[in-house]
Amino acid sequence: MQSPTLFESRRVAPETYTLPAYLPVPGAGILPVNAFLIHAAQPLLVDTGLAALKSDFMKRLSQLIDLEDLAWIWLTHTDPDHLGNLTDVLAAAPNARIVTTFLGMGKLGLQQIPTDRVYLLNPGQKLDLGDRTVTAIKPPSFDAPETTGLFDSKTRTLFSADCFGALMHQPAQTALEITPDALHEGLVAWSMVDAPWLAMVDAHAFDRALNTVHQLNAEMVLSSHLPPAPGMVDALLTHLRATRFATPANGPDQQAFEQIMAQIMVA
Ligand SMILES: [Fe+2]
Ligand SMILES: [Fe+2]
Repeated sequence: MQSPTLFESRRVAPETYTLPAYLPVPGAGILPVNAFLIHAAQPLLVDTGLAALKSDFMKRLSQLIDLEDLAWIWLTHTDPDHLGNLTDVLAAAPNARIVTTFLGMGKLGLQQIPTDRVYLLNPGQKLDLGDRTVTAIKPPSFDAPETTGLFDSKTRTLFSADCFGALMHQPAQTALEITPDALHEGLVAWSMVDAPWLAMVDAHAFDRALNTVHQLNAEMVLSSHLPPAPGMVDALLTHLRATRFATPANGPDQQAFEQIMAQIMVA
């Protein structure tokens, strides 16, 4: 895979769809970059994909929902891989409000997002979607302090933002297709890039955070950076727990990067 690629949208849980994309990471494989749609009574979009895939993303999203009906845009955090098409979605969905935190609003304010299109929700607080509530949760791993994942009480689906992401070798329909060893390696590698502070956390505090996820009893985990993971919460928690003993990763330096790119050009 030479460039970011958007795959077919798929239903992954009742009334729940993924818009899956993959981003090539030179020298490290590919990284999933997923957005999701909950087709609730008040429909909610989780994140807005990669800007590099704008036209395909907007087309696929419009195939899933009439954007006039979109009520909420849940921004897990303000990284570019999560708000890539936010401006276009806001323009096409005039009735939708962004769900974020005060810090998220502050960061978005720098990009001239009108504050009346923002709805503030902190971890632990609930949002009523008409036929269900979703609860904002702080995942045990994140790379931006405004990060909120969410838990859908109706489908028992956890949307975990950057948490539980994994570098991969090839696309997969679900995380069950990834061997446990490859998932462990890819998840630890991604976590050490995305949240190197995990290697410094207190063991008991980290266990409490992991246990909070365990207690949700989620049937499905939808990470922004992993294929859908049904019935895999405890396996994912075990892999994530191992990051405490991993080594934070630097990316390649200029010389190594040039070598990687030269190999890619030859291949
Ligand atoms: Fe991030
Ligand atoms: Fe991300």
